[in-house]
Amino acid sequence: MATAFRIAVLPGDGIGREVMPPALEVLDVVSAKYDLTFEKVAFDWGTDYYFQHGRMMPEDAIEQLRPLDAILLGAIGHPKVQDNVTLNGLLLPIRRAFDQFACERPAKLYAGVRSPLADKAAGSIDMVVVRENTEGEYSQIGGFLYRDFPDEVAIQTSVFTRKGCERIIRHAFELARRRNGKKRVASITKSNAQGYSMVLWDRCFAAVSEEFPDIETESLLVDAAAMNFVRRPESFDVVVGSNLFGDILSDLSAMLTGSMGLAPSSNLDPTGKGPSMFEPVHGSAPDIAGQGVANPLAMILSVWMMLDFLGAPEAARDVEAAVAAVLAKGEALPADLGGNAGTAAVAAAVLAELA
Ligand code: NAD
Ligand code: IPM
Ligand code: MN
Repeated sequence: MATAFRIAVLPGDGIGREVMPPALEVLDVVSAKYDLTFEKVAFDWGTDYYFQHGRMMPEDAIEQLRPLDAILLGAIGHPKVQDNVTLNGLLLPIRRAFDQFACERPAKLYAGVRSPLADKAAGSIDMVVVRENTEGEYSQIGGFLYRDFPDEVAIQTSVFTRKGCERIIRHAFELARRRNGKKRVASITKSNAQGYSMVLWDRCFAAVSEEFPDIETESLLVDAAAMNFVRRPESFDVVVGSNLFGDILSDLSAMLTGSMGLAPSSNLDPTGKGPSMFEPVHGSAPDIAGQGVANPLAMILSVWMMLDFLGAPEAARDVEAAVAAVLAKGEALPADLGGNAGTAAVAAAVLAELA
């Protein structure tokens, strides 16, 4: 295992800039403890960069990121610029350029955190939403016809390939096999209405599931999945869905286990050809940006996921355990989890646990 890594650091916009410094402090402490070296390469890309340069990141951004071992991203999005400009100018092209096809979004109900669902015990909800991350509804193929005329037409095409469906579904099964969970994969589609793309997905799911006879399966339509996330969240282990469905369901799983402020994610190229990216599920939260109250734990848990992917499982476990301890003690909870600790106080509590 290499023990020296070069990490791209992109705080981005809004609370991304507030939750990144604590996550880097955690990375520093844990790397000293485990004798790992992280060279941080900072990039000031995002909406401020856009105001100055007319683009979210430089033309050769992908080439600048390519040689690095991983990317830590805060959040992107600004109330003064159309989201489609900012996100299609930075986040989504990075996911595609490095073929980060597997997005993992764990949602665990930690001790000390209250689910909005009544009477849920710690640990009872413990799932990972695995989201296809490079194609599907996010393929960005389409256009406007008769733009700004009364007869305007917009066309947006989804792209589902056999290769794309098979590899994300296989990734979900492999994760279910590896995870210490219920050994279940739920596949989410809407093939009653999306009669081509999602029927292909269903066929791929049926075929790939035969390679994993030890894993239990279920197929749910996305509307029923939303209902069952609320009705029986304990029954889910690994949940695999398309780009859009995974996006939506992972906000739901985040809230069921406490808050957006606790939900980390990885954007993986499991082949390791290019850097994978680690970021909170949440966005730039303009409603609380600049107040010093953002919960840094989703960003810190993204460091947990990065360490694990880079092959430092003990360091990774230590980070997750420190977060879990802070939550369980309940003395430094941020506002979104019912406490009154600011970003810095929550981060200090995690650092104290690590030390
Ligand atoms: P959001 O996740 O930014 O915020 C949703 C709600 O959750 C807000 O009330 C916010 O205050 C709260 N919240 C989110 N993270 C929190 C944290 N760490 N601590 C405490 N509270 C937190 O979603 P949104 O409001 O729909 O989007 C805001 C902007 O972020 C938009 O521009 C959107 O496109 C963008 N966005 C970016 C990403 C990303 O960069 N990966 C993800 C989602 C949304
Ligand atoms: C996420 C975000 C992004 C997505 C947006 C901001 C484009 O919601 O990472 O969940 O939909 O992928
Ligand atoms: Mn989302």
